[in-house]
Formats: sequence, structure tokens, C-alpha cells
Amino acid sequence: MTVPAGIAKGLTNYGDPDFALYLRRSFARSMGYSLDMLSRPVIGIADTHSGFNNCHRHFPELIEAVKRGVLAAGGLPLVFPTISLGEVFLSPTSLMFRNLMAIDTEEMIRAQPMDAVVLVGGCDKTVPAQLMGAVSANRPAIGLVAGPMMTSRWHGERLGACTDCRRFWAKYRAGEIDNAEINEVEGNLATTAGTCAVMGTASTMASIAEALGMILPGSAAIPAVHADRLRAAEATGRAAMALAAGNVTPDRIVTAKSVENALRLLMAIGGSTNAVLHLTAVAGRAGVDIDLKRLNAISDETPVLVDLKPTGPHYMEDLFAAGGIGAVLRELQPMLHLDCLTVAGETLGERLAAPAGPVDREVVKPLGDPLLPYGGLVALFGSLAPQGAIFKRSAADPKLFEKEGRAVVFNSLEDLSARIDDPALDVTPDDFLVLQNAGPLSPSGMPEAGYLPIPQKLARAGVKDMVRISDARMSGTAYGSIVLHVTPDAASGGPLAKVRNGDRIRLSVKDRRIDLLVPEDELARRPTSEPAVPDRGYARLYRREILQADRGCDFDFLRKHPLGDGRA
Ligand code: FES
Repeated sequence: MTVPAGIAKGLTNYGDPDFALYLRRSFARSMGYSLDMLSRPVIGIADTHSGFNNCHRHFPELIEAVKRGVLAAGGLPLVFPTISLGEVFLSPTSLMFRNLMAIDTEEMIRAQPMDAVVLVGGCDKTVPAQLMGAVSANRPAIGLVAGPMMTSRWHGERLGACTDCRRFWAKYRAGEIDNAEINEVEGNLATTAGTCAVMGTASTMASIAEALGMILPGSAAIPAVHADRLRAAEATGRAAMALAAGNVTPDRIVTAKSVENALRLLMAIGGSTNAVLHLTAVAGRAGVDIDLKRLNAISDETPVLVDLKPTGPHYMEDLFAAGGIGAVLRELQPMLHLDCLTVAGETLGERLAAPAGPVDREVVKPLGDPLLPYGGLVALFGSLAPQGAIFKRSAADPKLFEKEGRAVVFNSLEDLSARIDDPALDVTPDDFLVLQNAGPLSPSGMPEAGYLPIPQKLARAGVKDMVRISDARMSGTAYGSIVLHVTPDAASGGPLAKVRNGDRIRLSVKDRRIDLLVPEDELARRPTSEPAVPDRGYARLYRREILQADRGCDFDFLRKHPLGDGRA
């Protein structure tokens, strides 16, 4: 029996398959397609262009180039919309909707007749959502990322979203620049299409997609407005046709080995803390669990090689010119699983065996002379975070790595914004700022609020960094001595919920520890309260199904192997 292909795939069920095919072809012909076109392999193109997503504003042009590639290879490209997640346009936070977009992507890939799909995404949560959906749908799939924005200039200074957004905001809060200047900066931070210009979450996830093998080699770092990105889009369309012909499904690409390759790359690029969540969620869709202790082992073995903001001086366009992610993977080659298949139809080893172009060593350091001898991220464990927390050591002040401090506690985001700048706040630079109820089970849905502002009176006195602890996330463009993703979170009654003003907390990055120095019997006496489950809609589904950060904040029922009622 021949398996239906193209437009004949997955017929609408009327109880009469012949009628269903006749009706589908009739309606497809109403769009002006010839029978010749309708007999070709169908390549779906998931379009996330949206008026609420500045990062994707060039997608109409990009998608035309994908279609060109599909047509040239003899296929029929059919574009379909999915949810788009514009990072700064969503309330309370984009992460809350990542799983909704993943469901949309998965179901539309599965429900519609396509032989392969091109996933066009870019802004922070869109690439993880598309990968999660594609892995679950397990139909031949290839990603195409937006590419980073180009930098801009302000008074001769180079600006790029969004590390510079934070740097100038900190200057403004400290009184170093005035209203007129911050308004000028605001108009110059993001001036082209594309994703944030630094090694933030979007760039990290694009890089991870390349290391996983889910986008074309060399395509992660091409700037959004560069002609090479259009050429990559055309090539992606052609590659989708090859994937369809070979029925190369994501389960052959996203494997335990390719996930480990992606983790290594994450360490070497000093990537975003958010990527730990996203990669965990993507891997969970493939039945691969990421163990945070294994993450620490990989971090200890893998040096930081890429010198980009938020930790270094460079931007993504510099990484592109320096040789891109290929240059980093070549350095990491001895540590990688080279037999992993990629969407280009070759293995990672075959890709890396091809002749390399020049590499700018200002931006991509050699393995033998790294920027840092160890990886950018570590997981911490201890009485405050029994299931782990994440610390970006490459973006933190080593003077604060081994430290004990007094807790100054904010019990919600509202409490934080109401009191952080209060001149009467009892706080010193040696204290630890603690934010509760900003984790995955909180009503705020784990926003990027872990970069707690330095209290204004300390900022004005010149304090640049303090230890900050929360169950929230942090933007990949941010920096500081910040302990994130404390698990279990406060809203689920974790130890973080029991911290009170004046408690002592000890941080030891060397020992991978974060401990609340309060006797257990005292903690047992402290009450906690869980937020109510919303009455209806997606918020209700989210609150009932969301897993903790150590499981990537996916919904349990979407994992390949759900944890069930005994979930931990
Ligand atoms: Fe879209 Fe930063 S706002 S990537």
C-alpha cells in the first residue's frame, strides 16, 4: 500500500476517503493551483510574522525566499500561521505562552497535509516552541531563524539590544544620564529587523538549534538583513524537500547525543540561562532528560570561547563575521558527538571536516586559549534549592562567588517594585536580595525578573552588583551575580517561600551550593500559601500542568514520557 503524500495526506474524515480527496483538491484548486502543483510534495512553512513582533518584521521577504527554494526543488510551498511570541509585547511574560505556541505548532504540523515543515521563528520563545512542537509531531522539519539585528550608533558609541538597554537604564537610575539622553538611547537600541543583537536568549537558541542539527549549518548568526540570510532561506526550502524525500524525522536528529552537543555549545558561547529551560523542554519531547549534575560536569570541562555581550564587548554580527557557530563547533570538535545527523543530510563530523574559513580570534577564542577555562553556567543545589538553581558565572562578579549574606526579602514582583527604591529600605551592598513568588507556578508565570535592580540608594553610591536570588528567570542579555530558577519555586511551597528578612544565606559557586542557614524546625513553623488555580482558559491549563524549572517548565502531558501524578 502506498502511503499518501502531499495534499492527499491526512484526509478530513467524512467516512469516504475518495470524497474527502476530491473535495480537498477542488478547494485547493479554488486557490488557483494547477493539478501539476497539487501533485507535488507539500512543504508547510510555519509563519510567525506578527504586528506584535518587531523581531520578525522581515519574515515576508524571508518566506518568499523559502518558497523559492521549495519551488526550485519541485515542491509546493504552503504557508500557514501559528502563534507568534514577541518578547516585550506579552503579559505577564512570554514563557507562559511558549507551551501554547508549541501545542499550536505541533497540532498544525500534524493536522495539515505536509511532507515536511519549515519553521520560521526567532524571538526568544518562538524557536524553543517550534522545536518542541516539531519534535512531538515528528514529521520532517527544519528551522530557519530570524537572525540578529544589526547594531546602531549613539554619540559614536555602538548600541545593540538589549545588554545596552540595561546598561543605559542602570546609568539613568544612577543619575548618570538624564531624561533627554535616555529618550535618545531608546530610539537607537533596536533599529533593524531581527532578534536581539547580543548573545541573549534568541541568539543562544539559534546557536543551540544549529548545534542540535535542526537548522542549516552556518545559519544561526547571519544578520537578519544580510543577503546571506535570504540565501539561507532559499537553501532551507531546498533542504526541506530533501528531508521530505528521505522522511528524515526529528527523532533522528534530536537525540541524547545531539542534546549533549548543544549543552556543550551553550557553555562555550556563554549563552543565556533561559536556554537551560528551553533545551530541557525540547529534550523532554524527545524522551531525553537533562540532569543538572551532568550539566555541571559539562560546564567544568567546556571553556567559554565566545566573547560577546552581555559578558564581552562584541555583538552577533561580529560572531557572524568571525566564522559563526561553525568556528565554535570546530574548536569544540574533540568534545562533540560527531556522528549526529543534521537537517543538511550530513553528520556533524562531515560538516566540520569541510574546509573552514578564516576565524577572528578576537571573537572566537581557540580551545587552547579560552576566555574562561570553564563553562558559562552552573547549577547550584542546597537547602534553598533542593532541585537546583542556575547561576551564570561568566556574567557575575567572582568577588561574590563565595559569600554569606543577610536576606532582604520581597514577597512578590509588586512588593519589589513598591519598595526597592524606598530610601528607608534596610539594605547594604553585602546583603542578598531575595525575590519570592516569581516562579513557574506563580501567577506571574516566571518572568525575566531575576535581574533585580540594585536599590537606587546603593546604585547612586556606585554599587554595580549584589547577590540576587529568585525563582524567576533572567533575560539572556542581562548580567550580575544572580541565582535563578530556584526549584521548587516559592508558589509550590519550596524553601524559597520560607525565607524571611534577616535570615542568613550562603552562596558557594565553588561547591555548587546555595543554602538557607535556618534550622529545619524553625522553617517547619513558617507558613506558606499556594496561589489559587485560575477558573478558566489557558491560565487554568497552565497552572495545572506546568512543571518546575528542572523539567524545562513544559506541560507534563506533552513530554514523551510524562511523569504522572508522582511528578517531581
Ligand atoms: Fe525578540 Fe529580543 S525582543 S529577541
